[in-house]
Amino acid sequence: NEGALWGGRFAGGPADALAALSRSTHFDWRLAPYDIAGSRAHARVLHTAGLLSGEELEGMLAALDQLEADVRSGAYTPAPSDEDVHGSLEKGLIERAGPELGGKLRAGRSRNDQIATLGRMYLRDHAAIIARNVLDVVQALLDQAKAHPEAPMPGRTHLQHAQPVLLSHHLLAHAWAMLRDVQRLVDWDARAAVSPYGSGALAGSSLGLDPAAVAAELGFDSAVHNSIDGTASRDVYAEFSWITAMIAVDMSRISEEITTWATKEFSFVTLDDAFSTGSSIMPQKKNPDIAELARGKAGRLIGDLTGLLATLKGLPLAYNRDLQEDKEPVFDAIDQLEVLLPAVAGMIGTLVFNTQCMAELAPQGFALATDVAEWLVRQGVPFRDAHEIAGDAVRVCEQRGIELWDLSDADFAQISAHLHPGVREVLTVEGSLASRSAQGGTAPSAVAAQIGELERQVAEV
Ligand code: ARG
Repeated sequence: NEGALWGGRFAGGPADALAALSRSTHFDWRLAPYDIAGSRAHARVLHTAGLLSGEELEGMLAALDQLEADVRSGAYTPAPSDEDVHGSLEKGLIERAGPELGGKLRAGRSRNDQIATLGRMYLRDHAAIIARNVLDVVQALLDQAKAHPEAPMPGRTHLQHAQPVLLSHHLLAHAWAMLRDVQRLVDWDARAAVSPYGSGALAGSSLGLDPAAVAAELGFDSAVHNSIDGTASRDVYAEFSWITAMIAVDMSRISEEITTWATKEFSFVTLDDAFSTGSSIMPQKKNPDIAELARGKAGRLIGDLTGLLATLKGLPLAYNRDLQEDKEPVFDAIDQLEVLLPAVAGMIGTLVFNTQCMAELAPQGFALATDVAEWLVRQGVPFRDAHEIAGDAVRVCEQRGIELWDLSDADFAQISAHLHPGVREVLTVEGSLASRSAQGGTAPSAVAAQIGELERQVAEV
């Protein structure tokens, strides 16, 4: 079998059951362009080390170019008997370069250092794509925030009305978390930018090949300092997997809110037709499927992460075949996010907010009680007492089925002598919002500053 990279010491071929279990081309073939790039770099260091003549190098590179073109066009695909991407591509190389020259490329490298390197290359490229996709969601949130700079909404804790906040402030809270995810991908890349190529099977190469030259050609910052670490570690994959799971969780959290906001009971948002779905039986339905799929996929990506960690747990050094299971979880996370994120960006960007309904609800449920307490503090009342007094006012209102601003001056005076009519200045949503003007607060001025800072950090990543 020409697609096998081993066989000399075996009397016969592998059992069908083994071959079926062992085969990974159905998921590792996406690494083929990276494998070929690695082969080019490897051919060059073989030449530098005197193991390939100038002519042989040229022949090798030409055959690799041909192979790459055939892989890209689909003219060359793995055969069912090929074990993995590496074996299949070596077979393809030999078909193009001949057995004499094609058989020289494997010197000084192992599938163990190859796969560790190719995986990092693939993850780095897709980390950049995912980062851009997340930034598109951040931008959609920024655009919505800027379109509604002063629209109030009920701010909640425990899902109960807590204090009024600006819709823009609330939306940007999601944006900051997502921006940190992007920053995490950037930080992660510094650790991923180290090439395992040259580690060989586990102990390094005896052939005088320069790992730093391969690393540079493949776009890495440097080569690993420990060949065992280079072939056996997958923490870089696990960290990537955690970041992608976190991205999915962040998408899921805003999706949960959008799902709630789109209910008849909330009626905070209307979903755009292009980003919602209908029902096969109920003609009136307009469903937030993107948001629900985001929630669902978050569960799936958490599974990818925990599956990968479970694979790594208990593995001795160095390479073990268990590590073949490292790829599908991270590939799955990438595939899912790359279809999910553009849909989430579109859904958020096209949301229509019912700002009137949100504004009406913003002060309800005694959401201005904290403002009353803080107003009392500014009158010199200790907060402990102020909290009690404002609580008394809420109790009176609750008994009468009214809101705080419905109390008369006499009602206020009866609750506490400190509650003179001046308290009415904070019994409006506008007054409440405007008072929270320190950095990070929900006052329009603070949110405007926040938008400036967020845009600065977005431009910087
Ligand atoms: N297909 C293998 C993987 O994904 C490549 C490395 C195989 N190495 C080995 N010694 N069998 O991990």
